[in-house]
Amino acid sequence: MHKKNKTLGEFIIENQDSFQYSSGELSKLINAIRLACKVVNHEVNKAGLVDILGAAGDTNIQGESQQKLDVLANEKFIQTLKNREIVCGIASEEEDDFISINSNDEKHQNKYVVLIDPLDGSSNIDVNVSVGTIFSIYRRVTPVGTPVTLDDFLQPGREQVAAGYIVYGTSTMLVYTTGYGVNGFTLNPAIGTFYLSHPDMEFPESGTIYSVNEGNYIHFPQGVKDYIKYCQQEEGDRPYTSRYIGSLVSDFHRNMIKGGIYLYPKSSMASNGKLRLLYECNPMAFIAEQANGKASNGYGRILDIEPTQLHQRVPFFCGSKKMVEKAEEFMKASNS
Ligand code: AHG
Ligand code: MN
Ligand code: MN
Repeated sequence: MHKKNKTLGEFIIENQDSFQYSSGELSKLINAIRLACKVVNHEVNKAGLVDILGAAGDTNIQGESQQKLDVLANEKFIQTLKNREIVCGIASEEEDDFISINSNDEKHQNKYVVLIDPLDGSSNIDVNVSVGTIFSIYRRVTPVGTPVTLDDFLQPGREQVAAGYIVYGTSTMLVYTTGYGVNGFTLNPAIGTFYLSHPDMEFPESGTIYSVNEGNYIHFPQGVKDYIKYCQQEEGDRPYTSRYIGSLVSDFHRNMIKGGIYLYPKSSMASNGKLRLLYECNPMAFIAEQANGKASNGYGRILDIEPTQLHQRVPFFCGSKKMVEKAEEFMKASNS
């Protein structure tokens, strides 16, 4: 059990030895992400001042062109990681292709690649509702000192060495795992320091919240329709409460604390749903499993899917173990 109130910096140092390959490189990388979070947090907090500072497409008073926040978050993250020369490759939801970093240079012995969704729930920005950032870290599979290839990024989620998210909510929190449970840190904005506020986070085994965009109901597979009806029936602790923010990070975070299930199923409009396997589903699935929860595509484990494309989408059912199992039962029963 980790004790509350230590800083993220102290926590990283204390836990470094428990990493499988404890060269300190992963710790440095988490430190770089911590810094990138603070930079993006600063930008997100200014979002409401857009009328004053200028909207996307405008030029501000210093002659700098204003960017959409997801583009800006993407640049800040990539720049921070590049500057620290701590990874050999980055893939981002906002980039068509992966980025290779100093991989031709033999001096650079970096072993890790990072995949990011720099701004998740971006449609919430304009209305002052929580957004997030998601990251996922793997060891490269190709030799150190050579350029990274697509194979370094297309690894099944079970190979992740770390994953986490930042939620820019009423407070800013960084929640992450390195495969030894899940810990949450809250930013004290006055001094720019993250403190351990949520040690050893776990999903309750079951819960009473279901999160799904029910406006798409008519397009859902029969199994999902049946499961939604089950959530709404009056029996035992049902009907459940419906909560949907429209930002995966925030919906997941609430469900992990209170107990619940998040669903983004396939539909007759989108055969694989909407969420991205590499930038969204795999990192959240790793965190969910580390927090005693479960993540499925409706039929099986998300972390066992062999990716074939960088921007691949998959249906996503994630949250309290018993609730995800129940949803899978409905999918199986209806053959959907
Ligand atoms: P992003 O902003 O990175 O594109 O992701 C948005 C995702 C996810 O965060 C959210 O849960 C989902 O899209 C909402 O989609 P709908 O508006 O279709 O419900
Ligand atoms: Mn997203
Ligand atoms: Mn995004």
